[in-house]
Amino acid sequence: LQIAIFASHTGTNMQAIIDACRRGDLNGEVCAVISNNSNSQALEKARTSRVRAYHLSNKTHPEEDELDEAIYKVLTESGTNIVVLAGYMKKIGPKVLKQYKGRILNIHPSLLPKYGGKGMYGSNVHRAVIDAGEKITGVTIHLVEEEYDTGKIIRQCEIEVLESDTIDTLSKRVLEKENSFYVETLKLISENVIKLQ
Ligand code: GRF
Repeated sequence: LQIAIFASHTGTNMQAIIDACRRGDLNGEVCAVISNNSNSQALEKARTSRVRAYHLSNKTHPEEDELDEAIYKVLTESGTNIVVLAGYMKKIGPKVLKQYKGRILNIHPSLLPKYGGKGMYGSNVHRAVIDAGEKITGVTIHLVEEEYDTGKIIRQCEIEVLESDTIDTLSKRVLEKENSFYVETLKLISENVIKLQ
């Protein structure tokens, strides 16, 4: 797999995937990292790991279609065949969406369709899960479509919500699981056990 990762913030999922490729646990290579946030830890971590990293945003490309085009160019020039969103807080443009249809994955920290959609990101998700008194939450990896959190579900795993959980403890446990679950899922894709288009 030639993997491009899009990340806006901390980039723990990104780092887990880079490390798995380097260790040989995942038969692939992270050929590009793209972030809309020039100050993100994700960009910093990618550069430290010597992965090609690009800041592409409305700051570098004020017109949406130019941004879409610039991202598409990085993807084609790097030989990307799978796009992995990991905490990427911006919509994918129509060109990239069309050209990589069925090959763009996202990870979401809940059992979609529960606790997805607009406004449901970061600690908001875990707050809603705890407020609703859920006993089980989880992680979803899904294909990216035009609307948030609506594409076909590729894989899910459940995580128990403990009586003692706070937003912090639950977020931390879910994120740790995300890191390994994303790597495992990409491995299944690379082995053609999970078939994308
Ligand atoms: C993860 O919780 C992911 O599910 C969500 O954003 C977070 C990204 O974390 N979409 P990181 O940047 O990979 O550490």
